[in-house]
Amino acid sequence: MRPVRKLHSLFIVSLFVLVQSACSNDGGRIPAKVTFTEHVAPVLYANCAICHRPGGSAHFSLVTYQQAKSYSASLAYVVRERIMPPWPADPHYTEFVGQRIMSEHDIRILEKWVEDGMQEGPEDKLPPLPDYPRGSLIGTPDMRIAVAPYSLPANSSDKFLLVKVPYELPRDTYAALIEFWAGDNNIVHHVNGDMVKYEFDKKADVFAGERIIDMVEDSTIKQAFEKLGLPNDDGTYPVLQKSVVNYLPGVFGQKYPAGIGGYFLPRKGAFLLNDLHYGFTKNAVTDTSYINIFFAKTPPDRPVQEFQLGTLGVAPVEPDLVIQPNTTKKVLSRYTIPIDISVLTVNPHMHLLGKSFKAYALKPDGDTIRLISIPRWDFNWQYFYTFKKMVKIPKGSTIVAEGLYDNTRQNMNNPFSPPQLVKDQNGSMRATDEMFQFIVTYLPYKEGDEQISLETK
Ligand code: HEC
Repeated sequence: MRPVRKLHSLFIVSLFVLVQSACSNDGGRIPAKVTFTEHVAPVLYANCAICHRPGGSAHFSLVTYQQAKSYSASLAYVVRERIMPPWPADPHYTEFVGQRIMSEHDIRILEKWVEDGMQEGPEDKLPPLPDYPRGSLIGTPDMRIAVAPYSLPANSSDKFLLVKVPYELPRDTYAALIEFWAGDNNIVHHVNGDMVKYEFDKKADVFAGERIIDMVEDSTIKQAFEKLGLPNDDGTYPVLQKSVVNYLPGVFGQKYPAGIGGYFLPRKGAFLLNDLHYGFTKNAVTDTSYINIFFAKTPPDRPVQEFQLGTLGVAPVEPDLVIQPNTTKKVLSRYTIPIDISVLTVNPHMHLLGKSFKAYALKPDGDTIRLISIPRWDFNWQYFYTFKKMVKIPKGSTIVAEGLYDNTRQNMNNPFSPPQLVKDQNGSMRATDEMFQFIVTYLPYKEGDEQISLETK
């Protein structure tokens, strides 16, 4: 229910829509009479059914005539306001791989169908439902590791878990891609996963320790890490590689062109799923998700690197992220890069008080390189946005990330009523604490990088 309630800053919404309709190409004429089987079903199958189908991540389907008809009033509204399909980044600021932006033509089809009285149309015109992938969105993995099953009782509210997924291999190897596969993608909302890399002799048993920790109940990250048995046997910490596996409903794992990306998989290791977020569920369920690994024959040629601005990052949040009740607050974080880089993806991160987000780079010559603008922050849809082509940022440029927070009653997502003091608790993942982060994944720049398309599947 959230997305609709959230969208009451109508001023921004209508501006956004105006610009959008002025620029989108209209992809054909609108028929005199719009019917479900002839015109609406193809639009829904292309734009919505990946999530709104049986077994999809949304809690209701939009694949049959009856289903679409029963949601018809909100269909037209959510597409016109661009609440659905979910894509918070402004496509007029920067474009990304796999962006879900509906054309003005498709929006009009849905609107006109409602205006025309929601006719079904000839049955034999209904296109077959696309064949949706099972088990992986990429292919057949070389290895599947089950995440420890987690049971949610009926009517349980949001859970934020820290989960360890240990593995042991016959030898050191390499992975081209690591994919998270949600068992029940109706309740698994998102995952941001790191890899713990053990030196073989320093850890006798990677499987020792707990598998799942509820972050709301546990106090510090360090205690949680100890319970999970993450440290080496001598108490020191193994290397942690950030963000090797991320998940959001409807998002493909990003496979880069040959030679780019890939990971060293040590013989002994573990995936550490930060922030495995299970949403509300009416019925009791037990979820078993998987990590799919696609091996690579050769070591990563150009492994992806990353830095983050803001909370726990290379540059602080300015001013401190302390948001008094009944106020809005602007913050920023800026970092001057010491080398030329080629940016692959960006990931803005805020919690429930987030209102808008923007990031760009200021070149030494004064020019601006646009990175991302999110005019209406949406906690539920925090993508790792992949550029269509790598973006070169020259050394000496300052990357600037700006965020606006709203700690008033007008913010429909405010976790507190009345509003309370909310602050950054050193990267606490609780959604009721705040964070301000901008994660950039990149490669050291090489001549010609800006020509390489990242749109391969
Ligand atoms: C990436 C997945 C995804 C895509 C694509 C998507 N939706 Fe949704 N949609 C959701 C989720 C998740 C919700 C939240 C409610 C829920 O949990 O089912 C939602 C909610 C809705 C709602 C209800 C809003 C409310 O009041 O709760 C409507 C209507 C809707 N979507 C229509 C559409 C239409 C029409 C399209 C295609 C143009 C579309 N969606 C594309 C995932 C998606």
